[in-house]
Amino acid sequence: MAILLTGGAGFIGSHTAVELLCAGYEVVIADDLSNSDASVIDRIETITGRRPAFYRINVADRAALETVFSAEAIDAVIHFAGFKAVGESVEKPLAYYRNNLDSALTVLEAMQAHGCARFIFSSSATVYGLTEQIPYTEQTERRGCTNPYGWTKYMIEQILQDAAAADGDLAVVLLRYFNPVGAHPSGLLGEKPSGVPNNLMPYVTQVACGIRTHLSVFGNDYPTPDGTGVRDYIHVQDLAQGHVAAYRYILEHKGCEAFNLGTGKGYSVLELVHTFERVNGMKIPYQIAPRRAGDIAMYYAAPDKAAAELGWRACKTLEDMCRDAWRWQCRLQADEET
Ligand code: WQD
Repeated sequence: MAILLTGGAGFIGSHTAVELLCAGYEVVIADDLSNSDASVIDRIETITGRRPAFYRINVADRAALETVFSAEAIDAVIHFAGFKAVGESVEKPLAYYRNNLDSALTVLEAMQAHGCARFIFSSSATVYGLTEQIPYTEQTERRGCTNPYGWTKYMIEQILQDAAAADGDLAVVLLRYFNPVGAHPSGLLGEKPSGVPNNLMPYVTQVACGIRTHLSVFGNDYPTPDGTGVRDYIHVQDLAQGHVAAYRYILEHKGCEAFNLGTGKGYSVLELVHTFERVNGMKIPYQIAPRRAGDIAMYYAAPDKAAAELGWRACKTLEDMCRDAWRWQCRLQADEET
């Protein structure tokens, strides 16, 4: 029996593939490589010694997906495939709704046709929207999202809750990621943003290697300890291991359950910058800039439900995240120079 990872060649998907293979599970990856490349499959094999089956398809294409379900004995699906850039979603809402909702619905319909009833969804803390209650628990009232990307996650969660209510055999886990950062310690897998990075850590690593001249710190007048935004940064390898724990959970549970995947600790922008400088022995030039539209001051997870019910807690430190992110950036540079 195999676990299908849609979007499994992406940043979080590829790290999850590694952890599942290392845990002895069979992995199949379906990815259209619109935000990744085929070398990731080779790197997964290099790290684990096992090569996942790989299908280069768009999972919104039902006929293409049928070839996967017909050829492989799919026992469960972990659904990563989807567009994920917050800013881009504001510029292209129809593309985001079409792609993200179509992909999820097509996968669910294919699963139903093939008797596959286990689904883990790559969701996001963004579904909590502009709530004032921190830390976020899974019961925190979801008060509407601030961008179309977040709404697609919110809507797919609703689709899954309704599907699980209608089909008692369906087992669904919603994994609400906080801020995934870092890279595989081998230096072979990591985040590869196209164009100018939206997110903090990849921007910092590009400043560190000279691709960018300086970091713009979006606001230092927030009601936080040092005035800059506070987030719950979680190492991507910890996050990946949370998916292994979630798979083991759905082997024993039906219904639809949400879990926060965060560390439970918030760090400010400047804390991350100064940690990066200290760990990697360099200076990161930065300038204070105006606040970014849509940003909120502070949020971080209450991670207790995942610890109690999945038997999972994040264990890597901000130092690990900064060290591994920098090693990956250096590898990217070296690859581009060869
Ligand atoms: C973190 C902090 C910025 C860039 C987003 C998505 C979320 C999830 C994770 C997918 C904030 C500050 C950033 C920069 C800065 N993605 N910052 N200068 O916005 O918390 O979350 O990515 O699921 O859904 O919303 O992450 O890394 O963009 O920002 O000062 O150049 O860094 O203001 O305080 P964010 P981020």
